[in-house]
Amino acid sequence: MPIVILRATLIGAMLTSPAFAEPKRPLIEQCAACHGEDGIARDTEVPHLAGQNEGYLYRQMMAFRSGKRLHKEMRYMAREMTPAEIAALAAYYAALPPR
Ligand code: HEC
Repeated sequence: MPIVILRATLIGAMLTSPAFAEPKRPLIEQCAACHGEDGIARDTEVPHLAGQNEGYLYRQMMAFRSGKRLHKEMRYMAREMTPAEIAALAAYYAALPPR
């Protein structure tokens, strides 16, 4: 199966599966502005998220949220999110194919 179709199927399955705690759409769209629609950042100042370790992503967002890891934009973003939303986003980006 071509990778593009595989990916679309995977994302489709993830977004429709009730077992998968789907991150809120507008939230992902906000992330996409900096981290890319596919989790691959276009700006060299911004890290890629696609394919990154899920636990790592979760811990980084929680650290931004608590202010333990300092970054203005990310703290602002993370403060708006619940731990459940952060977990869903971590799973979502970890499942995307890395660059
Ligand atoms: C305004 C731009 C911007 C937006 C919007 C944004 N981020 Fe970020 N994000 C960044 C930057 C810049 C960094 C790097 C921070 C640093 O240098 O410490 C980062 C870092 C991260 C990291 C840590 C990555 C690593 O490798 O350590 C995660 C996870 C993350 N962002 C997730 C998200 C999620 C999820 C969203 C949406 C809810 C989001 N970000 C929205 C700019 C943004």
